[in-house]
Amino acid sequence: MIKVAFYDAKAYDRPSFERFGAENDIHFTFLEAKLNEDTVALAQGCDAVCVFVNDNVNGAVIDQLHGYGVRLIALRSAGYNNVDLKAADGKLRVAHVPAYSPYAVAEHAMALLLTSVRRVHKAYNRTREFNFSLNGLAGFDLHGKTVGVVGTGRIGRIFIDICRGFGMHVIAYDLFPAKDSDIEYVTLDELLERSDIISLHCPLTDETRHIIDAEAIGKMKKGVVIINTSRGALIDADALLEGIKARKVGAACLDVYEEEAEVFFEDRSGHILNDERLARLISMPNVIVTSHQAFLTEEALYNIAETTVNNIVAILRGGKCPNELCIKDGKIGHCG
Ligand code: NAI
Repeated sequence: MIKVAFYDAKAYDRPSFERFGAENDIHFTFLEAKLNEDTVALAQGCDAVCVFVNDNVNGAVIDQLHGYGVRLIALRSAGYNNVDLKAADGKLRVAHVPAYSPYAVAEHAMALLLTSVRRVHKAYNRTREFNFSLNGLAGFDLHGKTVGVVGTGRIGRIFIDICRGFGMHVIAYDLFPAKDSDIEYVTLDELLERSDIISLHCPLTDETRHIIDAEAIGKMKKGVVIINTSRGALIDADALLEGIKARKVGAACLDVYEEEAEVFFEDRSGHILNDERLARLISMPNVIVTSHQAFLTEEALYNIAETTVNNIVAILRGGKCPNELCIKDGKIGHCG
């Protein structure tokens, strides 16, 4: 039997992982703790760790895991910026779930955008109190607006299709533009200057960290709507706050936040929020925050569990795993 320490476990993870685990002779130990240097010892005796976006798999954690005889880091996410792949090289194998439901994330981005521009969040609260006034609820049509999509991979391209369905004009920026598409690619600067709405769908890398900073916001149209369902650190949250206060940024829709690891995924309603910047952002009438839930659909949870279990079985029982990550010529990609 393969033993797996499953960090940062939530109630919604368990049914599908228990099912696929039982079918494949894998025992998951579900741990509420996130993986870090303080909790890594809980993985002793396991063959693999299963981690999510806010587990911190740094070099020190990897050395400890290696020392315990753990052989695999099985990410149950697409993004892998929280794993030090260089440190893992030659010690632990790493696999991720490249696509589980790109529709889930793209649809959530559109849900946030519609909620924001049609003030649905405000209307919902009002009508619950039998306040049927429309004052302050005027929005704007998406039809005819220009949306700038940063990152045209799986999720970005679905978001583009959805936007086109709304009659929006789409422009895009990608470091590696798709060759087989009718997407209008522009430079990042041009995208920042021309877009009424900007949606981020690129991974977090050294190049993309704070891709939206004060300088980038300075180039944007007044009243721009910024959507981030990708990774928090793509946006310099201080610069975003200043942009909103200066009325330059018209609205922000955030499913991810730079410092989310300390806050998201838990019920903190009975507590004082220590992160004053996040509290300030949430207090803004034109900011909508969801706590990294874009992935959270039934279809995605099923696919995540199925692919993660297939990755574990393939790597630990000697098969080929198409989702294993390797460093080749200094670049991270599938081992292939
Ligand atoms: P993907 O790998 O299919 O597409 C990423 C695209 O970004 C590629 O076209 C790539 O060329 C482009 N890119 C890479 N570096 C770039 C740069 N420096 N500038 C501009 N573009 C660049 O990834 P996918 O599946 O579309 O996911 C995108 C991101 O969404 C993931 O990296 C992850 O961070 C995030 N995500 C968020 C979820 C949530 O629940 N909020 C769930 C799943 C993914």
